[in-house]
Amino acid sequence: MTQHTPARARSGQDPKPNATLYGGARTRRVTVRDVAAAKERGEKWAMLTAYDAMTASVFDDAGIPVLLVGDSMGNCHLGYETTVPVTMDEIAMLSAAVVRGNQRSLIIADLPFGAYQEGPTQALRNATRLVKESGVGAVKLEGGERSLAQTELLVASGIPVMAHLGLTPQSVHAMGYRVQGRGEEDAQLLLRDAKAAQEAGAFALVLEMVPEQLAAEVTRSLQIPTVGIGAGAECDAQVLVWTDMMGLTSGRLPRFVKQYAQLRETMTSAAREFADEVKGSAFPTSEHTFSS
Ligand code: KIV
Repeated sequence: MTQHTPARARSGQDPKPNATLYGGARTRRVTVRDVAAAKERGEKWAMLTAYDAMTASVFDDAGIPVLLVGDSMGNCHLGYETTVPVTMDEIAMLSAAVVRGNQRSLIIADLPFGAYQEGPTQALRNATRLVKESGVGAVKLEGGERSLAQTELLVASGIPVMAHLGLTPQSVHAMGYRVQGRGEEDAQLLLRDAKAAQEAGAFALVLEMVPEQLAAEVTRSLQIPTVGIGAGAECDAQVLVWTDMMGLTSGRLPRFVKQYAQLRETMTSAAREFADEVKGSAFPTSEHTFSS
């Protein structure tokens, strides 16, 4: 997990976009330019959430090009009911850990609820902290029209912004957890918001819980990549919350989650086995013991 500066970056040359987000030489971090180039090539890519250095290093080994330090850390890592209570201090600390644990992925941090709603100046102050203190390469914020001024100022200040439309969990008290953009009027509103986010300078757009036909239309209409979560197969990229897709989350999962592992079962049985062995004096043995 040691950080080192690649020779090309040290020499100050402008790095060319990786030939492919997955297959490019592991000499530097993925940037928003690589993500833009992937859309031009028609290359799809994967994004996962991460909230700690260890997981971020595993996803580096797996070649995941983009990691999101999502405010889903609220429900998935910090024990809150929703994303709403997550603070700037929590996002800043865990983002720094993810950056330390990973050398190649583009790391994006969520601006949590209450960190940008007051206006562009507040957004710039908090985004600047995440870029300077935590070392992330971009930030994400929720909302179309209502967040455009924030996006414009951040982008003008050199901070890449990922937009987030459809279901926006920070507004759970107002919208609940349900599919967004159903019906002609809502679909047109979402399409307008998506175009406005691109116009304001966002480099990519998350579409959460949106009908697949609408997500496909947004994807075709934009030059920037769409990142789907519960938005069908036509998006340019897909994101999942890592604890959901690894089978660590307990309870009912949204229908858009596919589980690629069953870590909860694996960890529960390993912890039980350890406890049983300690109780029965089967651990430690001489193999795990020092002698004088
Ligand atoms: O916080 C998060 O994990 C997210 C993803 C669901 C896109 O915003």
